[in-house]
Amino acid sequence: MTERSNFGSKLGVVLASAGSAVGLGNVWRFPTEVGNNGGAAFILIYLLCVLAVGVPVMMSEFLIGRHTNANTITAFSKLAPGKWWRIEGVAGVFVAFLILSYYTIISGWTLYYLVQSLKGALLTDQDYSVYFNSFVSEPFTPLLYAIIFMVMTHLVIARGVQSGIERFSKIMMPMLLLIIGILVVCSFGMPGAGTGLRFLLKPDFSKVTASVVLSAMGQAFFSLSLAMGCLCTYASYFTPDTKLVKTAVSVCSIDTFVAVLSGFIIFPAVFSVPNVSPDEGPGLVFVTLPNVFNIAFHSIPVLGYIFSGLFYMLLLLAALTSAMSLHESVTAYVIESWGIPRKKASAMVSASCMTLGVLCSLSFGVLSDFTICGLTIFGLFDFCASKIIMPAGGLIICLFVGWYLDRKLVYNELTNCDTVPFRLFRFYIFLVRYVVPIAIGLIFINELLG
Ligand code: PFF
Repeated sequence: MTERSNFGSKLGVVLASAGSAVGLGNVWRFPTEVGNNGGAAFILIYLLCVLAVGVPVMMSEFLIGRHTNANTITAFSKLAPGKWWRIEGVAGVFVAFLILSYYTIISGWTLYYLVQSLKGALLTDQDYSVYFNSFVSEPFTPLLYAIIFMVMTHLVIARGVQSGIERFSKIMMPMLLLIIGILVVCSFGMPGAGTGLRFLLKPDFSKVTASVVLSAMGQAFFSLSLAMGCLCTYASYFTPDTKLVKTAVSVCSIDTFVAVLSGFIIFPAVFSVPNVSPDEGPGLVFVTLPNVFNIAFHSIPVLGYIFSGLFYMLLLLAALTSAMSLHESVTAYVIESWGIPRKKASAMVSASCMTLGVLCSLSFGVLSDFTICGLTIFGLFDFCASKIIMPAGGLIICLFVGWYLDRKLVYNELTNCDTVPFRLFRFYIFLVRYVVPIAIGLIFINELLG
């Protein structure tokens, strides 16, 4: 077997992990959830979930990966030989594969919208809901764009850890942050921005229900890439001197910062045109925003090209760095457990994931009547991945670290053998033993019943 690689720098570690976390979940799903769940109050609860659940679970994944230096399945097998904990590793890799297959389809949509916005097609008077539906239900074009997206992801992963993932994260993440900065400034300058800002900043706690709290927690899980083996796999490339607690805090902060800024981009824009509402659901970035671009920039189309082009570029970069981590989680397993060289392993993963992706894509069109338990293929994959396997995975990881792993091992990993102080260690153990499992148990029950 070939020698295992590592990330070459601290910046590479943070940017690659933040790249995994920052994705469609931040720019697309977070504003949608904020819009549907009443604005600022949701954001406050979300912040609490990131602090109390996100950071400890991320630290736990990091320590498992770094300690074992292996893909997620092998990691659990090494730490608990012959025990059923290995199932969590298997579920992580499996769910990463499943998510990649449908994440690629949505990412293909963003690529298509980027091309269309550069061609000026998003600045014409038309019904964007019809536009979107006729695009996604068509059999070939969405697939073509998904394939192009998968090839882009594949090319990065096939190059390996340092010259692929790390190098491209170091290029793409700063670009992404720069684009966000530009868009926030533009959005603040739009008429009616004040109403959007008020929506984001003034909490209305009357809107807070148990289901809002649970949605915030589910969003934190998805957005931080937790429980899918991705961060565990990346951590297996960390060096012994990587500070796990500091890295987890940095990654969670960057992810949250990008999510909130995405809200600052979208809502001032949405509120700047009449008769467009912030709670349009998942169509927010593919239906509502093109509408906004068209109306708001009618008199100065050149600004419309720039704003819409940059926005879809942002979505695409975010999607790409996340897809890379999903791909790597599976590829690392294929390389290490099946003894297949990286280039061939990544080609196998790309091809098989794309095959599954075809079904997901067609489920918006010709296969839309084919349902299992009332869900289309896309819906079923999303349901299994984000509503069952993911919360269950988070729960198992916490129980594993909190109750099964040797306390000394956990302490040594988080403090780099007592060389980096971590005063909140006992509090961390309390969180992973009790608070997080109970919180996740609640999401789980709610999602299943809901
Ligand atoms: N965190 C990514 C996002 O916010 O879009 C999605 C994601 C990536 C989820 C990697 C899970 C994962 F393992």
